[in-house]
Amino acid sequence: MFQNRFFSSLTKTKIPGFVFDIDGVLVQGSKAIPEARNALRFLNNNKIPFVFLTNSGGLLEREKTAQVLTKLGMLDEIPNVRTVLSHTPYKAYKEQYKTVFAVGPIGCSRVLKQYGFKNVYEAGDLIGEYPGIAPFNMITHRAEKYLSQNGRIPKDKLQFDAVMVLSDPRDWSADLQIVADILTSDNGKLGTTNYTKNAKSIPIFWSQRDFQWKTEYSLPRFALGAFREILYKVVSIIKSPKLVTLPNEMTNSNTKLVHDKASQEYSVKKFINERVMGKPERIAYEFAEKELRAEFKDLYASGEEFELGDVYMVGDNPLSDIIGAKNYGWKTCLVKTGVYNDEYDLQVEPSMIVENVEEAVNKGVNQSS
Ligand code: G3P
Ligand code: MG
Repeated sequence: MFQNRFFSSLTKTKIPGFVFDIDGVLVQGSKAIPEARNALRFLNNNKIPFVFLTNSGGLLEREKTAQVLTKLGMLDEIPNVRTVLSHTPYKAYKEQYKTVFAVGPIGCSRVLKQYGFKNVYEAGDLIGEYPGIAPFNMITHRAEKYLSQNGRIPKDKLQFDAVMVLSDPRDWSADLQIVADILTSDNGKLGTTNYTKNAKSIPIFWSQRDFQWKTEYSLPRFALGAFREILYKVVSIIKSPKLVTLPNEMTNSNTKLVHDKASQEYSVKKFINERVMGKPERIAYEFAEKELRAEFKDLYASGEEFELGDVYMVGDNPLSDIIGAKNYGWKTCLVKTGVYNDEYDLQVEPSMIVENVEEAVNKGVNQSS
């Protein structure tokens, strides 16, 4: 058995734990990374605890687990893995925010409803109810379905308490328009504006802020952080109407433009009431550690002779997986199957750089023995 290699008669035997990022480590878009199968199989067969910690979302935790294991063709072999999504911590806010606007894949409002939020709407719900609200949307509106399931949208007094971003919008145009509307409204009341000095937006929760992620395409793709940059730019322009109404001033004076840009960026940060979660934020690692400890407890129920040893974060994004895990005090394994490659300007030193997840597991396990 694997754990015999850790045995010591004086102290408890330390069992390492693994936390796996998903995109770029286990899968690339719809494609499995083949070495991931060997890595998970080895850990599973040797009673070494592991969990998934991903910045993706827009679905329930158990659905994500099933999705990944299905892509790997391992659903029968490993029926369950504890998974922490970037928006898993949102559950704690279900009492605080009653009416919420959800951003992510079409239908993602159901995730927040499952978390216990009372009133949840998404772009598709509003598009059917408010003609012209998002004129270039690509969404087949869900209003009819929504009305039959949940009753009428309160047309004249729909007031949001928070925007909760679960994942990348699937229709940037519709979500960009509606979220900008909500943030610049009078205290979340749809269809209103607020130009009061020192006004603040209602809270917007970002499940993560990765700028890039890795699919099966050769180059990294925009992630949610790219949408956040664009949204804030648009909001800053809405909040500084002078900049769009005085084009000559913009083009004739570079100094003024620079000045205006700086003051805009300053004010948008003060104006937007944002909460950011996901890796590299500490909260993501705290949630993952809790799940890893629960997994460890399931595997070593008697508990007496064993304890959780070093934790290895296996990730492909230095600016998210690796920096966050390093700050949290875990060992870090950077793989080359995702965002990071040999040309990447690495600004953080991982514990190890490896070709793929299988090598990360082999090296991690050997280091711990
Ligand atoms: O949007 C980026 C997200 O999909 C990354 O997921 O698994 O690499 O944290 P992951
Ligand atoms: Mg990744």
